[in-house]
Amino acid sequence: MLVSASCTTNNKAPSSEGTPYNAKVDSLMNLMTLQEKIGQTVMYSGGWSVTGPTVSSNNKKFIKEGAVGAMLNVYSVKGTRELQRLAVEETRLGIPLLFGYDVIHGFKTIFPINLGLAASWDLEDIEKGSRIAAEEASAEGIHWTFAPMVDIARDPRWGRISEGAGEDVYLGSEIAKAYVKGFQGDDLSKHNTILACAKHFVGYGAAQAGRDYHTVNMGYDELRNVYLPPFKAAVDVGVETFMTAFNEVNGVPATGNKFIFRDVLRDEWGFKGFVVTDYTAINELVEHGFAEDEKHATELAIKAGIDQDMMSSANRLYLEALVNEGKVDVKLIDDACRRILLAKYKLGLFEDPYRYCDEQREKEMVYKPEFLEAARQTAAMCSVLLKNEDKALPLDKNETIALIGPLARDKENILGNWAAAGDRKGRAISVYQGIQEYLSDSKIVFAKGCNIEGEDQSGFDQAIKAARKADKVVMVMGEDYDMSGEAASRTNIKLPGRQTDLIKAIRKAVPNKAIILVLMNGRPLDLSEEDTLADAILETWFPGTSGGYGVADVLFGAYNPSGKLPVTFPRTLGQIPIYYNMKNTGRPIPPDDPKEDYKSNYIDVPNTPLYPFGHGLSYTTFEYGNLELSGETIGMSDTLTASVTVTNTGDYDGHEVVQLYIHDKVGSITRPVKELKGFKKIFLEKGQSKRVSFELSPKDLEFYNNEAFVIEPGAFEIAIKGTSDFDFEHSFNLE
Ligand code: NOJ
Repeated sequence: MLVSASCTTNNKAPSSEGTPYNAKVDSLMNLMTLQEKIGQTVMYSGGWSVTGPTVSSNNKKFIKEGAVGAMLNVYSVKGTRELQRLAVEETRLGIPLLFGYDVIHGFKTIFPINLGLAASWDLEDIEKGSRIAAEEASAEGIHWTFAPMVDIARDPRWGRISEGAGEDVYLGSEIAKAYVKGFQGDDLSKHNTILACAKHFVGYGAAQAGRDYHTVNMGYDELRNVYLPPFKAAVDVGVETFMTAFNEVNGVPATGNKFIFRDVLRDEWGFKGFVVTDYTAINELVEHGFAEDEKHATELAIKAGIDQDMMSSANRLYLEALVNEGKVDVKLIDDACRRILLAKYKLGLFEDPYRYCDEQREKEMVYKPEFLEAARQTAAMCSVLLKNEDKALPLDKNETIALIGPLARDKENILGNWAAAGDRKGRAISVYQGIQEYLSDSKIVFAKGCNIEGEDQSGFDQAIKAARKADKVVMVMGEDYDMSGEAASRTNIKLPGRQTDLIKAIRKAVPNKAIILVLMNGRPLDLSEEDTLADAILETWFPGTSGGYGVADVLFGAYNPSGKLPVTFPRTLGQIPIYYNMKNTGRPIPPDDPKEDYKSNYIDVPNTPLYPFGHGLSYTTFEYGNLELSGETIGMSDTLTASVTVTNTGDYDGHEVVQLYIHDKVGSITRPVKELKGFKKIFLEKGQSKRVSFELSPKDLEFYNNEAFVIEPGAFEIAIKGTSDFDFEHSFNLE
């Protein structure tokens, strides 16, 4: 066993050393009183968007007193300029404010929700999308986004599964890097780059029973092998800030957790940026039963390594007293203040506090035609074709279609949750409008049929009539946008309301017509019934401002679908948690006899999901062949090259996401049955073949075995496929 050096120790003290701002931060801090330093660690909401419980605060008064360092939920040049003016012109030292906002999947031009973005497996496109979001947000005065959310999520009941990159460590880590690079760009002092924030540190996605904010308890192997790596990936590409999670981790709430913030984030990973709490999370240490009162909570948080207090008022009210009573070392406040000032210097705010407040730029940047076009392309790239019997898709421009369902003409839900400053009142393009680009109105027979929720079936008859008049039926259904996102967990993951009944009614009325189900939803749904009713299913998540165009491009074949699931779709709620890289157990079911007694299975449903991780069809077909390895055995300093030939054997040109999986057969702790270790998105014309190669180094096989990071010699299986649903046929040894 090789014990590897993943835990490099770095200096703990935040330091502006090595940056051009060192001396500047130091001389500014020499002028600051303790209260002014504490002020930098305080953040309040301007209330323009509501992203947490209402907390009243006298913002303007506090800003003028130098008691606030940052604001959230404020945007626009006019709005931010006014608040910035108070900080710069009416305080003793004129230290500029930092404006943070939840720019999660777009600012005004809204891209598909993040789970959908992950389904593109397209790192370049994700980076480009977050670059566009940064362009727009920065033009409206925003310096900092509370994104990306890099929480691994394996429970579709959890509403915030919509906001992350799904269930996989490798995919999630690559996507985390793409977001950070997109937001922060290559130079933070440019007026179009913003600070990114890796959140929520850590384990938030593992909330018990998928209930938001619920308890998290897991082994340190799972924490380090699954939940920490996307955060480490964000640090590796220079993410400037971190946000604490609301949950506890193994009994210690994240916001008071020294182990994760001081030992792991600062000491092991060498993170130099600053840490903000989640909304009122310091005060919540009291409800957690971890702090006696808010003052005690304040002490615990700063000692755990938290720099800025979002909305608790805790630092403002108690830090000074805690210092005077000798309970908190003033050095901790200096450290926090220094880190926050450094970020402000990096953004160039001391040179020009209004550099993000340019009216002309604001006018030019927001909803730029090229941004809307990029969002359209991304919406197409994120759509996942789950099923397509008898070539129900693509649609033909000569056919008449019945367009049915509560989301067919919707322009509000289509933006999804966390739609930042996106316009839900009409700016978005509905699927109906998208389809109008391809079909004249006389070929579209529309009927809403039913609402998303509720029992009303009075629209069924009209929907049936529409279906009878058409050649094919397109049903646009799903969830309301606010059925996912924060505090939006569900115990039922079926289509809500009477939507499934409507599909059944249409199926009965037109048994021989193709039914195409177009879905918008923020989580994996239980689609077992729909799978038996619809000929084709296209998962579009919530596709954003230009979503209707992008979805129509896929429906009519202008874009050949290439999305792959970043998360498993179960057959039924009872299978949760279900994800592709589970462990084998001591009693796995034999593939040829899944009903054998005393095995790890259910007596009522198979162990397999309805749609596996990595699954996604195309209008064409791809064949994988001739897998070759550069050797049967590699040493600790070698690299293995694995290559495969992928051929487009169908009738359309198209993209394919080629996925590399391994299985570490024996370990000092058990290893998952499959692990994604690489992917490449390629384009193949019909009939074309390409050789696709991956390099794998021993470092890629590393894991944490509860004592150390190790790379263990032994046998590994390997495969390169277009889905996670396959049996291994090849292997190699690590010596
Ligand atoms: C609470 C959410 O958990 C967090 O993700 C968000 O950034 C903050 N509110 C600020 O809106």
